[in-house]
Amino acid sequence: MSSSSSVSVVSGATARLLPGGPVADEVLAEVAASVGRLRAAGVTPALATVLVGDDDASAGYIRIKQRQAAELGFASPHVHLPASASQADLHAVLADFNADSGVHGVLVQHPIPGGLDYDRALAEVDPDKDVDGMHPVNMGRLALGLPGPLPCTPAGIEALLAFHRVPVSGREVVVLGRGATLGRPLAMLLAQKRPTANAAVTVVHTGVADWPRYTRRAEILVAAAGVPGIVRPEHVRPGAVVVGGGVRYEGRRLLPDVDESCARVAGAITPRVGGVGPTTVAMLFRNAVRAAQRQTGLG
Ligand SMILES: NC(=O)c1ccc[n+]([C@@H]2O[C@H](COP(=O)([O-])OP(=O)(O)OC[C@H]3O[C@@H](n4cnc5c(N)ncnc54)[C@H](OP(=O)(O)O)[C@@H]3O)[C@@H](O)[C@H]2O)c1
Repeated sequence: MSSSSSVSVVSGATARLLPGGPVADEVLAEVAASVGRLRAAGVTPALATVLVGDDDASAGYIRIKQRQAAELGFASPHVHLPASASQADLHAVLADFNADSGVHGVLVQHPIPGGLDYDRALAEVDPDKDVDGMHPVNMGRLALGLPGPLPCTPAGIEALLAFHRVPVSGREVVVLGRGATLGRPLAMLLAQKRPTANAAVTVVHTGVADWPRYTRRAEILVAAAGVPGIVRPEHVRPGAVVVGGGVRYEGRRLLPDVDESCARVAGAITPRVGGVGPTTVAMLFRNAVRAAQRQTGLG
């Protein structure tokens, strides 16, 4: 199971590393097996992607997802709309995918050009085909504990902690950030009644000026602010588990919320690169194959 190393790149660090790669590998192996069963039953699961505009990074992300989809055995129909596309053009593409029973999951690559409204587009996706798990209906399902696609990054963090056998149940988790993508859904997820969750969760944000008072007592601290270097060793309880979710990109340079020196204080920590990211992508495909299973009644 866990293949984490106790050797960190930060000198003087003793924290055990919690890489996301092996977690993703395990999840994707399960996804590939599920896809194989669906195909054997005559259903090719299809994850449709929509790209609007010509942003190089977004086009690159879509290509990576399509390649991975193909490797896993998914069909991946794709629509590329020009940057001049209207909101109605985008909604029309989504309506077609919603109506197509051969398409089981739909992904709109974020960000979309400035004149378009991503949230409105997301709301047009059939909630049962929403592989990001971010549709308002799916956020509602999460809040109510109903089955449905889970938001990928929070679900990836729960899987990462479970894979590395970090006990969560009954422990104090502090999440720095209440954003819709990460902090807020993660807090809901880790407070659910389930052996890999079941935590006492506190969420802090800019409204809590003395947030270090809370993070310093956390047994598990999740950084979800998107402010490079905001979490420093003095914010971490010695021996705590630190998960770096928040990142900002400057060009291709990744700037994480968690300062690397936290590895000197933490008991376990996600690596600067290859922590939460790979688990997020794995959860996207897990949502896609589960969507196909639910829609076809197979598996
Ligand atoms: N690794 C991955 O795969 C992955 C995937 C998705 C997202 N992310 C990252 O996760 C981060 C969070 O994204 P999001 O969309 O959920 O959040 P978001 O909407 O960007 O909100 C950030 C949150 O952090 C809080 N915050 C910002 N600066 C703060 C400060 N100085 N002190 C205390 N709190 C502060 C904000 O507080 P207020 O609410 O008070 O403004 C807000 O709640 C981003 O960096 C994003 O890139 C990573």
